Amino acid sequence: MLSASIKSKSILLVDDEKDIREVLELALVDAGYEVQLAENGQQALDYFRKNRPSIVITDIKMPVMDGIQLLRKIKLEAPETEVVMITGHGDMDLAIRSLKYEATDFITKPIHVDALEVALKRVGDKILMRRKLEEYTANLERLLKEKSELQDHLSSLGLMIGSISHGIKGLLTGLDGGMYLLESGLSKKDEGKITKGWETIKIIVDRIRKMVLDILYYAKKRDLQWEKVDVACFAREVSVMVAAKVEILPITLTCDVDETLGEFKIDPGYIHAALMNIFDNAIDACQRGSDSIQHELNFSVQGRDDKIIFSVSDTGVGMDQETQSKLFTIFFSSKGRKGTGLGLFIANKIVEQHGGCIDVRSKPGKGSCFTITIPKQGS
Ligand SMILES: Nc1ncnc2c1ncn2[C@@H]1O[C@H](COP(=O)(O)OP(=O)(O)OP(=O)(O)O)[C@@H](O)[C@H]1O
Ligand SMILES: [Mg+2]
Repeated sequence: MLSASIKSKSILLVDDEKDIREVLELALVDAGYEVQLAENGQQALDYFRKNRPSIVITDIKMPVMDGIQLLRKIKLEAPETEVVMITGHGDMDLAIRSLKYEATDFITKPIHVDALEVALKRVGDKILMRRKLEEYTANLERLLKEKSELQDHLSSLGLMIGSISHGIKGLLTGLDGGMYLLESGLSKKDEGKITKGWETIKIIVDRIRKMVLDILYYAKKRDLQWEKVDVACFAREVSVMVAAKVEILPITLTCDVDETLGEFKIDPGYIHAALMNIFDNAIDACQRGSDSIQHELNFSVQGRDDKIIFSVSDTGVGMDQETQSKLFTIFFSSKGRKGTGLGLFIANKIVEQHGGCIDVRSKPGKGSCFTITIPKQGS
């Protein structure tokens, strides 16, 4: 008895001789295949186009459209279809031609069940092999993608470790300086030195905190914790923190907050961190700018359409075009040991995650203005 090597497969059987169709259909159904019948190539092609059976067994010599024509059309439209040809005795030329057109196998009339079984076994093996190959290819593609993502991550981690070690070395030097001032102030009971030393230590601790938060954000991406927040309240909290930062610096902070903006949906922790990164840069820019003037830092919060617009402007060093074009690139910094170049990269990512954007206007020597637009309803 014939045994189906790939059960539940449908076969389209094409032969113009009724007797052959009937005998083969019986054997195939018996072996567990689902069988459809056609009398010639054209009828078979119509059925094939609608139902796409995975196996076709076809006679070669038939009226209307012969088996070779049918084979060529099927292979053109669905090359993965397995086609077994039935040839008459002595039709070796036709059989060889059909193999050239990629028939899977051929069986000769009169048909022996054994020969049919061998042909169907070959068909089954081919289908299984192709499936395995498709699986391997898909796996390989996935592995290659994962490998390249891992490589990217490793190389940016390498860069980050380098840049951070560099930054920490600078911060430690600053901390040493602060501690020295504090110690010598304490031993000499010099108020001035004590205050200066203590302020230096506070600034450096603040920088270390920011650096660690940035690294944490970069190393482990978390989903946003959406909350409805009162815009004016949120803006006030930010401005209090900024005011504390500039208190002892020659920088005047002005705030212009529209009190009627209502609520917006954000992750307050993240938006706070993004704004602080922008303020830290603005304060740095003022300190790096001309020291003959009292610098100005302005924070404005307004609404337009369904958006909240935060503007942070400073009268600091400003930026040339080249710096502006690299601003949001990871690890881009012009501050040497004092910067890791993560600040704006992260601020931009956070704002993008909220469906917003950051725009920058700046002039060297004059100052910069960062505009952060956030949709009121979240992204
Ligand atoms: N307000 C500004 N005025 C002038 N230059 C700025 C301003 N904001 C950013 N920059 C420039 O953009 C660069 C990148 O800023 P970013 O915050 O990403 O890194 P950073 O401040 O150097 O380091 P950190 O990771 O510690 O924040 C800065 O080094 C600076 O050159
Ligand atoms: Mg920064």
